[in-house]
Amino acid sequence: MKIAILCSRVRVEEKLLFEAFETLGAPALRIDEREIAARIGEYAPQVDLLLERSISASAGLVALQLFEAAGVTTLNTHRTSETCADKIRTSIALARAGVDQPRTEIAFSTDAAIEAIERIGYPVVMKPPVGSWGRLLARINDRDAAEAVLEHKEVLGGVGHNIYYIQEFIEKPQRDIRAFVIGSETICAIYRTSPHWITNTARGGVATNCPVTDEITDICRRAALAVSGGEGGILALDLFEAPDGRLLVCEVNHTMEFRNSITTTGVNIPERMARYALEQAEARAVRV
Ligand SMILES: Nc1ncnc2c1ncn2[C@@H]1O[C@H](COP(=O)(O)OP(=O)(O)OP(=O)(O)O)[C@@H](O)[C@H]1O
Ligand SMILES: [Mg+2]
Repeated sequence: MKIAILCSRVRVEEKLLFEAFETLGAPALRIDEREIAARIGEYAPQVDLLLERSISASAGLVALQLFEAAGVTTLNTHRTSETCADKIRTSIALARAGVDQPRTEIAFSTDAAIEAIERIGYPVVMKPPVGSWGRLLARINDRDAAEAVLEHKEVLGGVGHNIYYIQEFIEKPQRDIRAFVIGSETICAIYRTSPHWITNTARGGVATNCPVTDEITDICRRAALAVSGGEGGILALDLFEAPDGRLLVCEVNHTMEFRNSITTTGVNIPERMARYALEQAEARAVRV
């Protein structure tokens, strides 16, 4: 089985993945998307499976289309990745599947956004529909702040900042949950604890082990199914513990970082990913 990892930069995660494939006796090839010039209709990379780990979400999505067109099995698929890369698509997919999430509204103008914000009630969270590492998230506590953030977005924001993704603020217990799903199994989870309302580890959140309860397993399985259409894959879900006791899905990531979660959980995440990738490649080879 020939596995390739798509990445322009080898972060700790990719280094661990290359090592995991090596240990399993199936060294992976590195493909840097910056070296690709693909003639449409003729691009035929000689690999069985592409594990997409590009730091650029947009480059990753284009590369997935090229590899899928060439008949290569992909992880995650373009369909799943496209849904996860866009918070609006993710929210729609979760809603269609009846998976609990914070109340979310999409608005197309600043006036409509103010209406949506006041319907939800302060505080609200506004997020760029496409983005990560907690960047450009705004917690808006009152009308003055809402008007200021909307004016800044309207005047200074580039493409993508004139569609407003507005969400109810969840009073979570100074932490959220990051759960790792491979195929249909939730393999482990961490709490991300922070005095700040943004709990991402990239923003200083501290990781500790979170026992995978039946409730976590259940919502993760349903959310993964919702965004992947049953294709499975390798996903990381952000969950909130709502004050009413429910778990809510905040978002689903398709090229997650995991360096802080291996010793924390005692689960060898890169090895599990590599094993799953090899299984998928073999299953595909049998089908073809
Ligand atoms: N509606 C909300 N209520 C309370 N806290 C929130 C809400 N939305 C986001 N947060 C906090 O902000 C963090 C980042 O939010 P989110 O995961 O949506 O953004 P992101 O930038 O895409 O992050 P990632 O790097 O995980 O992709 C969450 O983990 C959570 O701590
Ligand atoms: Mg997140």
